[in-house]
Amino acid sequence: MNTPRQVSYDGRFGRLFQPLADQSAHDPEADLAEFRAIAEAMQESGNSPSGDNARMPAGYTYLGQFVDHDITFDPTSFLQRRNDEEGLINFRTPRFDLDSVYGSGPADEPFQYDRTRHDGFALLLNPVGAGFDLPRNNQGSALIGDPRNDENGIVSQLHVAFIALHNAVLDRAVQAAGQTTGEVFKEAQREAQWHYQWVVAHDFLRRLIGDELHDALLRADEGADGVVREAVRLRHYRHKVNPYLPVEFSVAAYRFGHSQVRDEYSINGTFHRRLFDPGGDDFRGFQPLRPGWHASWPFFFDLDEQGPEASRRIDSKLPATLFSLQGGAGDDANLALRNLRRGAALGLPSGQAVAGAMAVERLDDADLQPAAPGKAPLWFYILKEAEVMHGGAHLGPVGGRIVGETLLGLLRADPQSYLSLQPEWEPTLSTTTGDPRLFSMADLLATAVPAQVARF
Ligand code: HEM
Repeated sequence: MNTPRQVSYDGRFGRLFQPLADQSAHDPEADLAEFRAIAEAMQESGNSPSGDNARMPAGYTYLGQFVDHDITFDPTSFLQRRNDEEGLINFRTPRFDLDSVYGSGPADEPFQYDRTRHDGFALLLNPVGAGFDLPRNNQGSALIGDPRNDENGIVSQLHVAFIALHNAVLDRAVQAAGQTTGEVFKEAQREAQWHYQWVVAHDFLRRLIGDELHDALLRADEGADGVVREAVRLRHYRHKVNPYLPVEFSVAAYRFGHSQVRDEYSINGTFHRRLFDPGGDDFRGFQPLRPGWHASWPFFFDLDEQGPEASRRIDSKLPATLFSLQGGAGDDANLALRNLRRGAALGLPSGQAVAGAMAVERLDDADLQPAAPGKAPLWFYILKEAEVMHGGAHLGPVGGRIVGETLLGLLRADPQSYLSLQPEWEPTLSTTTGDPRLFSMADLLATAVPAQVARF
């Protein structure tokens, strides 16, 4: 949690707004009473239909969580990192490379790979009833690149889908090449990574930040040679040597996802559960999937006419379940309070100060109660901004820019991304619309897990 504040810093974490680095808006202890009042006002009881966000199907909440884990996951050995106590060297840059799925590869982590299929280049899956679970050891712990992707049943089923995506594109690559080699594996891996990157940069981000900002940040222009290439245009996200994760992103803006969580989900037509229930018998993670509990994806993404369940609006309300986190007690079980205190501990500037630095429209104090006048915690401000300016349908100017610039900045900084290597690339897997540029998460699932894209 020690985030260096000097301007020259260029490591694992950094700041988007360096000039505000000394303008910490809050003190984690002195402002505790204010944080408690804000957190209390944020608790929602039940899921009234008016709090649903029709623009954002429920599955995107967990795609968002999956993305967070992917870019913050670091499989570099702890020993190596310990030699770099201040984290000044970025051993592994944040990338959309699915390393949470691939781990460090078939040679280093063969236990994640299926040695009976394609010479051990396919990823391992665990059949349960009519669906699949993550591979697990005999004590139920998931054998995957990033254990956080077993934190709840939905993100765990999404991880299964990404494993299956690799296997599906590997099947095709092997068939086309007529053999299985390390090169064919790498080609399939790249294919899976690029389609995932496309879904994040287009389908997910457009829903999250709105059409206007998305069009301003990511453009596809035809060059003099008649080829359409994509390019990003960013105002704030810059890096010197290595790309970094801004604290304004990980400690404030990207935690928008907490307000999208529903108290209860339809996982399939016959299985409805709370994600976390103090009484147990819920869809929490870190446990083997039971037969009949695998996800029917039309409940989560746009896959049929009936349509999915919606996520909750991006607003200043969080479901009750996030105020009694499993394994936590007292203040530690209260996710809203934790986010507010974490922001103060990291010396975040207020939402108003960031809006000022961006020169965008600022919310009035009246909209931000019970926060103290003139200095609302950044995370709370960003949620209020989405609520007041866009009815909770998508992020506002401050939150949208922080999230959009960080995600696209990381994609541009990755020398292996489609945007860097082949900005004219378009998805090649099939799409329901027939337009490759509209390739979506629903299309990705149709290739990866065809049995789970039908409603059951
Ligand atoms: C099922 C629901 C979820 C639970 C129970 C949960 C719980 C937590 C907890 C306990 C923390 C650490 C808080 C702290 O002490 O600082 C955290 C951090 C975080 N959460 Fe969530 N979360 C959930 C969903 C999400 C979603 C959907 C997103 C985004 C779309 C998200 C984004 C983040 C981010 C960015 C952090 C900061 C740490 C990091 O970089 O990984 N979370 N979450």
